Amino acid sequence: MPRYRFPQPAASEITPEPVWRERRRLLAGLGGLAALPLLPACRQPEAVPPPAGNPLSIVRQTDTTGGEALTRFADVTGYNNFYEFGTGKDDPARHAHTLRPRPWSVEVAGAADRTGRFDLEDVLAPHPLEERIYRLRCVEGWSMVIPWIGFPLADLLRRFEPTSQARFVAFRTLLDPERMPGQRRRILDWPYVEALTIDEAMHPLAFIATGVYGQELPNQNGAPLRLVVPWKYGFKSIKSIVRIEFLAEQPLTSWERSAPHEYGFYANVNPEVDHPRWSQRSERRIAGSGTSVFAERIPTRLFNGYAEQVGALYTGLDLRRFY
Ligand code: MTE
Repeated sequence: MPRYRFPQPAASEITPEPVWRERRRLLAGLGGLAALPLLPACRQPEAVPPPAGNPLSIVRQTDTTGGEALTRFADVTGYNNFYEFGTGKDDPARHAHTLRPRPWSVEVAGAADRTGRFDLEDVLAPHPLEERIYRLRCVEGWSMVIPWIGFPLADLLRRFEPTSQARFVAFRTLLDPERMPGQRRRILDWPYVEALTIDEAMHPLAFIATGVYGQELPNQNGAPLRLVVPWKYGFKSIKSIVRIEFLAEQPLTSWERSAPHEYGFYANVNPEVDHPRWSQRSERRIAGSGTSVFAERIPTRLFNGYAEQVGALYTGLDLRRFY
């Protein structure tokens, strides 16, 4: 029996006049490969209070959405799923101050030539930061457009020299009920575990985020480093990573373990494959604040709109069976 079930989106959540339409932004360096001089990553869709975290500099900006309106900073950091701090959407923002993302280290294990425990500073040091504007589609049926800051996951994984045995990569969140009080409740089998195939992990869109909206990640968004896999449901984008393991066999992930008939290993965004308890045909683009969310309902796209880039990863795979 599942311990926790994602809440079914309320049918009563209607779309008001889109208050969120903000001017579209033209971005420098769209898909460009050449490194630009360091840019301040500080674009805001509207006048919002300046982020409180340490500012980050980036070498490149890429908008993968073709100019969709950014979700407001207040929503990106105030409407979250991070069950280690509670299951309410505003729980992470209210409670994640106990996380303490520094000092931090990441253990690397399994089928790789360079394994061991690495200080966060050493993990991050070689990677120039870039901004990637991605859509995020939660399995619950809401979505955002988020300007993440970080670097390609592939660039990190290659440094550990995975062997030919490495067919999967598993990620683990911190296990520490003192710093993550939600782990005292048996909502999931803690720690949170997620995984990708090695080909998915090496795909250029798979991203390690260390910041958002021009600043270091707030705790509630998964400080100090998290995964962002924009073509998959948001639960694959595991937060506050402490362990990376290269594996020969497909591991069991937290949501598969909790509710195998509801959450598959692949979890690719797919409007054709309904969740057993709700349709995935459309999504609410979040544009409100805290729990009072105003959102426009829009159609969901295969692979969250990234089919052109990632479709080839799944050639020959029955997307209904392997959801
Ligand atoms: N990672 C951990 N460790 N714990 C979580 O509860 N929730 C997931 C994912 N990563 C979660 C997690 C889900 S369901 C979603 S939709 C995204 O984080 C939400 O990311 P955001 O809060 O930064 O928007």
